[in-house]
Amino acid sequence: MSTRETLARDLTLARERTLRLVEFDDDELHRQYDPLMSPLVWDLAHIGWQEELWLLRGNDPRRPGMLEPGVERCYDAFSNPRASRVDLPLLKPAQARSYCSTVRGKALDRLDALPADADEFDFGLVVSHENQHGETMLQALNLRTGPALLDSGAPLPTGRPDLAGTSVLVPGGPFVLGVDAVTEPHSLDNERPAHVVDVASFRIGTVPVTNAEWADFIADGGYRERRWWSERGWQHREAAGLTAPQFWGADGTRTRFGRVEQLPADEPVQHVTYFEAEAYAAWAGARLPTEEEWEKACAWDPVAGARRRFPWGASEPTAALANLGGGALRPAPVGAYPAGASAYGAQQMLGDVWEWTTSSIRPWPGFTPMLYEQYTQPFFGGDYRVLRGGSWAVAPGILRPSFRNWDHPIRRQIFSGVRLAWDV
Ligand SMILES: [Fe+2]
Repeated sequence: MSTRETLARDLTLARERTLRLVEFDDDELHRQYDPLMSPLVWDLAHIGWQEELWLLRGNDPRRPGMLEPGVERCYDAFSNPRASRVDLPLLKPAQARSYCSTVRGKALDRLDALPADADEFDFGLVVSHENQHGETMLQALNLRTGPALLDSGAPLPTGRPDLAGTSVLVPGGPFVLGVDAVTEPHSLDNERPAHVVDVASFRIGTVPVTNAEWADFIADGGYRERRWWSERGWQHREAAGLTAPQFWGADGTRTRFGRVEQLPADEPVQHVTYFEAEAYAAWAGARLPTEEEWEKACAWDPVAGARRRFPWGASEPTAALANLGGGALRPAPVGAYPAGASAYGAQQMLGDVWEWTTSSIRPWPGFTPMLYEQYTQPFFGGDYRVLRGGSWAVAPGILRPSFRNWDHPIRRQIFSGVRLAWDV
């Protein structure tokens, strides 16, 4: 398949997923489930607006677009905070669907008409953007109260519970951090450029921390003992009244997309803040990895002395290698993907849960902003921690070992989990 055919396919797959996430009635789509999230109908039209701006208006908002200026102002993510979007004069769901469909038709025509040697980066960015909103919409739906709207999710492979708590060694030495446009043409600005970084020896969890392990932390007084928490972490724990991961009940249950179910012991823990992750690691006699450590454990092949495209090698992700794409609506049990192991033997590095690292988001040396200049740059130096590896909700086509995500250390409506590290 040519890159152009792949892009057309990925655009279509992203759109099918978006439309599945808005197959609800108009009232539902206009609801705001939580001040942290937009109403779903905002995400829908924003996806179309951003695509129109990047692909049809040359990224110049002064060029006329299809929407009235007063309406299109609603869809700029930076001038409209999430909490206020519900009060904007938004397009109705039918109008938003029709707008997105018109934009897409023209975008595909432009893709068809591109000269053979044209840069296709902007199309890849549109695929990534739409799919990233797919994950955001799933976060919103998970915060929704009321009877479940979604089914319980696709089946997943069984795991290896005995892998919980085990670790693998990553011997010290230099490796190549980040990627370049040549090897990964659709990589985003913050993943570039590739450069050599030296990392001391460390151990990293074979798999993410499980719900059963987290329950032990709670039972051992982890949320009550000041000594496991950083100063900021403890302050937040007290102010927010944290006693367990978000969505956990008091009786060994959790709520997932409106369904109350028994907590699966061997599933990676989800919905914890950076501060909780840090406290858990201290209690466990470990620490969180830096993002350099994380990426080396995920992508470096010490025998070949080169990066792998994916932890397991060069082949594209499949359902046998990683839990991605959002269909499962939950992480897979630890040890479910032995074929997806990295060169060092770490499993489930991609998919399942985003993994908190100690790193703040910062530019790699030689950073150059991309077409979407506000994607990363405004966040450098802010109060964020980087998360790595993607969750079960990430579309496989947009995820790479170099992919960087970040959020405030107090956030946990995201599909965030924990992988431990140790000095050696
Ligand atoms: Fe966006």
